[in-house]
Amino acid sequence: MESLQRLSFVFFIVLVAYFAFLASAELHVREFVIEPKPVKRLCRTHQSITVNGQFPGPTLEVRNGDSLAITVINRARYNISIHWHGIRQLRNPWADGPEYITQCPIRPGQSYTYRFTIEDQEGTLWWHAHSRWLRATVYGALIIYPRLGSPYPFSMPKRDIPILLGEWWDRNPMDVLRQAQFTGAAANVSDAYTINGQPGDLYRCSRAETVRFPIFPGETVQLRVINAGMNQELFFSVANHQLTVVETDSAYTKPFTTSVIMIGPGQTTNVLLTANQRPGHYYMAARAYNSANAPFDNTTTTAILEYVNAPTRRGRGRGQIAPVFPVLPGFNDTATATAFTNRLRYWKRAPVPLQVDENLFFTVGLGLTNCSNPNSPRCQGPNGTRFAASINNQSFVLPRRNSIMQAYYQGMPGIFTTDFPPVPPVQFDYTGNVSRGLWQPVKGTKAYKLKYKANVQIVLQDTSIVTTENHPMHLHGYQFYVVGSGFGNFNPRTDPARFNLYDPPERNTVGTPPGGWVAIRFVADNPGAWFMHCHIDSHLGWGLAMVFLVENGRGQLQSVQAPPLDLPRC
Ligand code: C2O
Repeated sequence: MESLQRLSFVFFIVLVAYFAFLASAELHVREFVIEPKPVKRLCRTHQSITVNGQFPGPTLEVRNGDSLAITVINRARYNISIHWHGIRQLRNPWADGPEYITQCPIRPGQSYTYRFTIEDQEGTLWWHAHSRWLRATVYGALIIYPRLGSPYPFSMPKRDIPILLGEWWDRNPMDVLRQAQFTGAAANVSDAYTINGQPGDLYRCSRAETVRFPIFPGETVQLRVINAGMNQELFFSVANHQLTVVETDSAYTKPFTTSVIMIGPGQTTNVLLTANQRPGHYYMAARAYNSANAPFDNTTTTAILEYVNAPTRRGRGRGQIAPVFPVLPGFNDTATATAFTNRLRYWKRAPVPLQVDENLFFTVGLGLTNCSNPNSPRCQGPNGTRFAASINNQSFVLPRRNSIMQAYYQGMPGIFTTDFPPVPPVQFDYTGNVSRGLWQPVKGTKAYKLKYKANVQIVLQDTSIVTTENHPMHLHGYQFYVVGSGFGNFNPRTDPARFNLYDPPERNTVGTPPGGWVAIRFVADNPGAWFMHCHIDSHLGWGLAMVFLVENGRGQLQSVQAPPLDLPRC
């Protein structure tokens, strides 16, 4: 009898704890109005597409377990959709956002409410438009704090500073894209990089608005660095200050200290910084890590870390001692970029799948499409061609009549096929001197099917077609472990023996070493259509993408939810 009483008491306590846990989760209801707004940069004003008139867009701050309901109201003249980069969207591809992959775009005058829950994720993510080049100005931070009372694996500073790195064109980015799509040549490079929307001291008409971060001597802050740039990997550093890396892509790392980080488009890196230098002003700066043999924006964006009560120059007005400038690696310093990424480790033992059910080998890289009339104004790529890009020689084309997820769910034929090749159609020396006959990819809209809960390994092999390059490959709907990487061609006999299956870094976006390969593993436990693509938007536009179709498991809890009623139609 007494034991029964005790049992029911324990049951009661568990119930109370459960309700307290439920009550702590919040619903964040927000409106994102997509609208043009005059934004002045580099001496000129542009009608930039913004969210709620803000550039960069609003920061979302939520906790693990919270739900969001964000109504996107399109008052711009372009179709748009919003992607919550890195959010897993379990069984809920409808809220993922890439246009023509999981939804049709939101047309001008229409709206759509993204409803999703944060399930077992914490850290720095971000959101951005996933519709042509609109993400050049439509992006913002998405910060997920741990559940109330749940600790950080490191001592978390009181202050947290989002650092959004972006790229600015002194033109309408949609016109830059349109011109490139017409000519077949590479799009114009950006005119500036930005930190929280501002180019900084080294650009024309920008000085007055350079971002300044006050800091108290002795204080430690966390910088949440996000590369929201369109097309460029960046080096980032702060003069005289060491950075302690604690998280990448919303996954904690074993802390390590560095003077510079390399961050690709789509990636996030949290670092701790302690104000332990002589009180003064210090530049934080970012500029290109350019791994390709191609033109790039070689300018430098800056913001200023200002010690509170730093001495200023006496006499004339508010004269300040010029901030100290950091040492940045050379533009093509692959050694520094690689040394940095090779130091990343998951913060504890990682639950990496040890057996592999699906062993995929993907070549990723550029290509050229030949023209019947090389003198055509539409063929201004190298030697009268048009630029292309592909995975396993398949250059991805977005469908137009429906999204892949909607077509899949409704069983509508003719939108895509499921014959994406698991290995390249021909084997060749991927990083050697590739014969011209292999430079032209095939266009198509192909997906690759994965069984629910399959253990997947993908080796992403960069090619030297046109140029070798660091391609920041992003997988929607998943976080994966980066188990190995190297230069040259992947060797399936010898390289797997060196994989780190103990504490490999977890990410949602990983760069291929230029002229090398990177291996990732994940469990296909999230059913739906999930885009995998290069986060360099010009490469994405050229077709460097594919789609995974992850099948349902058994029963409702392993199957894609029903689509929301307001899901846009094409
Ligand atoms: Cu951050 Cu498909 O993108």
